[in-house]
Amino acid sequence: MNVVAAQILNRLSKAGDFLSGEELCLAFGITRSAVWKHICILRKDGYEVDAVTGRGYRLSGLTGRPVEAEVAPFLTCQRFGRSMQYHGVTASTNLLAKALASDGAPEGSVVVADAQTGGRGRMGRTWVSPSGVNLYFSLILRPALPSIRIPQLTLLVAAAIHQALSSFAVDLLPLIKWPNDILVNGRKLCGVLCEMQSEADLAHFVVIGIGINVNLSLLPSELQDSATSLFLETGCQFSRPELFASVLNHLEPLYDAWLLKEDLGFILPYLEQYSLLQSKEVTVDQLNRTVCGRVSGISRVGELKIDGAEGQTYLISSGEAHLRKGTL
Ligand code: BTN
Repeated sequence: MNVVAAQILNRLSKAGDFLSGEELCLAFGITRSAVWKHICILRKDGYEVDAVTGRGYRLSGLTGRPVEAEVAPFLTCQRFGRSMQYHGVTASTNLLAKALASDGAPEGSVVVADAQTGGRGRMGRTWVSPSGVNLYFSLILRPALPSIRIPQLTLLVAAAIHQALSSFAVDLLPLIKWPNDILVNGRKLCGVLCEMQSEADLAHFVVIGIGINVNLSLLPSELQDSATSLFLETGCQFSRPELFASVLNHLEPLYDAWLLKEDLGFILPYLEQYSLLQSKEVTVDQLNRTVCGRVSGISRVGELKIDGAEGQTYLISSGEAHLRKGTL
């Protein structure tokens, strides 16, 4: 869809009623036949637009894609998602968001795609990103903080997504798997990939990439034991625009609170209450060692606290935690 068609779509969506052809001509500085051309583009793209002589145009049917016109009506936050770039398909929204951020895009800008051809996960993994079913988006943040605080954002974002999912599907019972996954019934529903650019010790910008499996009905065979989607868990289809907005609506106030605090202390009770690993026996593979023990909590700066068998306490700041089979 071209820029003017997208702008006409936004205008019609905000109006919620008929807009005359003349109003649209004036708003975009184009002729009546150009307006009609763009209306045809919108229709071709799946939107239902009524055209009534003497009244003008009215948006009467949406597509369920996470485009600005469909997301904005659900946004209650002030800054996040107020500038949104949508792509039908792109390699990775994180890559695009990093380029935008380098060009000076303001905090809260979002890049979203219907499909990714090179979706990226943590530790060099890929993120399976088929079209039309899931959410893939990247949020640009500019916290004026020392870069040492930035890894805390991953847990903060996980908490916001957890809140959004819990309010969206009440019986879902998602859990947060430190540091950045949301799981349902032991299978991964959502992942977060935070990437930072810093100068000296100051964070320049952070890109928060979020992938949520929403209406995916068929997983690739290699993911069938480890991944899931909202649809697979509930048998229901969910609105991607509404869930997308809900994540931003939950994240903005948490982020604003975090900026004013020293650390994650204010959200720790929540993180521990919904932590998959809390009080569980785990192993954590790190670059040069493997740590085993029972998880006793999360520290104020976001480390996983593990009590070892010999009474020692480990504070783990990075790595992949695995539940130890056959333990409680
Ligand atoms: C993980 O669990 O390993 C993190 C997955 C993050 C995937 C999202 S999808 C949107 C954004 N763009 C990417 O290429 N990756 C993130």
